[in-house]
Amino acid sequence: MKVLLLGSGGREHALAEKLVQSSLCTQLYVAPGNPGTANIAVNVSLDILNASALADFIQKNQIELVLVGPEQPLVEGMYEQLKERGALEHCIYFGPGREGAQLEGSKDFAKQFMQRNKIPTARYKTFQAKQLEEAKAYLEVQDGPYVLKADGLAAGKGVIITESKQEAIDEIEALLGGKFGSASTTVVIEEFLSGIELSVFVATNGKDYVILPEAKDYKRIGEGDTGLNTGGMGSISPVPFLDEALRKQILQKVIQPTLKGLQLDGIEYLGFLFIGLILVEGEVFVIEYNVRMGDPETQSVMSRIDSDFLEILIELGKGNTPPEMRIKEECAATVVLVSDGYPESYPKGREISGLENVSKAHAYHAGTSQEGGKLVTSGGRVIAVTALGKTASEALASANKAASQVQFEGKYYRTDIGKDLLQL
Ligand code: AMP
Ligand code: GLY
Repeated sequence: MKVLLLGSGGREHALAEKLVQSSLCTQLYVAPGNPGTANIAVNVSLDILNASALADFIQKNQIELVLVGPEQPLVEGMYEQLKERGALEHCIYFGPGREGAQLEGSKDFAKQFMQRNKIPTARYKTFQAKQLEEAKAYLEVQDGPYVLKADGLAAGKGVIITESKQEAIDEIEALLGGKFGSASTTVVIEEFLSGIELSVFVATNGKDYVILPEAKDYKRIGEGDTGLNTGGMGSISPVPFLDEALRKQILQKVIQPTLKGLQLDGIEYLGFLFIGLILVEGEVFVIEYNVRMGDPETQSVMSRIDSDFLEILIELGKGNTPPEMRIKEECAATVVLVSDGYPESYPKGREISGLENVSKAHAYHAGTSQEGGKLVTSGGRVIAVTALGKTASEALASANKAASQVQFEGKYYRTDIGKDLLQL
């Protein structure tokens, strides 16, 4: 089978590794890919938001499965655009259409969906730009911490959590005033939940599903979960506190009602569901839905999958019940190496060395490029190193060692990934 993977980050490098392991994969193209995917697949320089270019490529190269990495093509309705162009007649598109992608593309849509389907989530209220005064009055009578969420996609910066009422009021003015353009002219204000987070991943065709290994990611830039939010600084899988009873609760209170809710709304859904959860005194609540895999969760999650992952995607795509997912007993840990300054501004073009020294771990490219025969930094998150181990501490030790073996000027990484879980 000829496969086209869309995206260019560490997540896509990890997905590409998994796809090429499949005996069913005869050719893998990655658009646009990165120097890591170039080593194992064919990178094609295509704009993943350009429907006509993608449709041409799919048809000319007889692509049979498209796997979508990032959310933007999903939220922008790439499925519908390719379908309209007749590009999906012989091709499975693994990613939801425009409506399903609203679970990630609109916080208000997701909250209404959860409320309608009795899926546990924080209490909330939604405000539009014209309701600024009502929003401020609402904040006045709430206790902090305050959680404000831009309705639309805001490059991971759309969630603001603050203890200060004044800051919350200033933020609501900025958001509704268009801080993130139309993505924030609707804002969800929700109750702050205090607990421990984990993420579960489901691959589904709306009827059948497989549950992938769960993971926990580390979003803040600083040690001890301090400082600015990032795309993710590391991840770990499995999550030790996810026992059988909690698995059952997540299945019954979240996964099953989510799939049922999609069916009730008549939304066909082929793709991933990445459910961000928080555990509050033993009760699970949904923090958010994403309609794609996470980065850097995918690097840890894929490392633990023993099954032919492409076969699972194909069977789901055909509307069949997929084979059971075999998961390795081992633990996986991922540490992300970033450029100093990230998540704010950071330098680019710094030479990367030492990848050949990485032992007992896999180095996934995230923000790298080839320039004049040299591998250089081109993004904030540069390389993600993932290691497996019999225990979480073994995996973490190997990932940290690998992190120290890769060099570039201004390299920074958190050395405390997963440490909170070791103490549980
Ligand atoms: P997001 O950008 O949607 O992934 O949210 C970023 C982070 O904000 C989440 O991972 C949580 O740590 C935190 N968060 C979001 N909603 C809430 C909430 N209602 N209560 C507490 N923390 C939250
Ligand atoms: N690591 C979080 C995300 O991919 O959304």
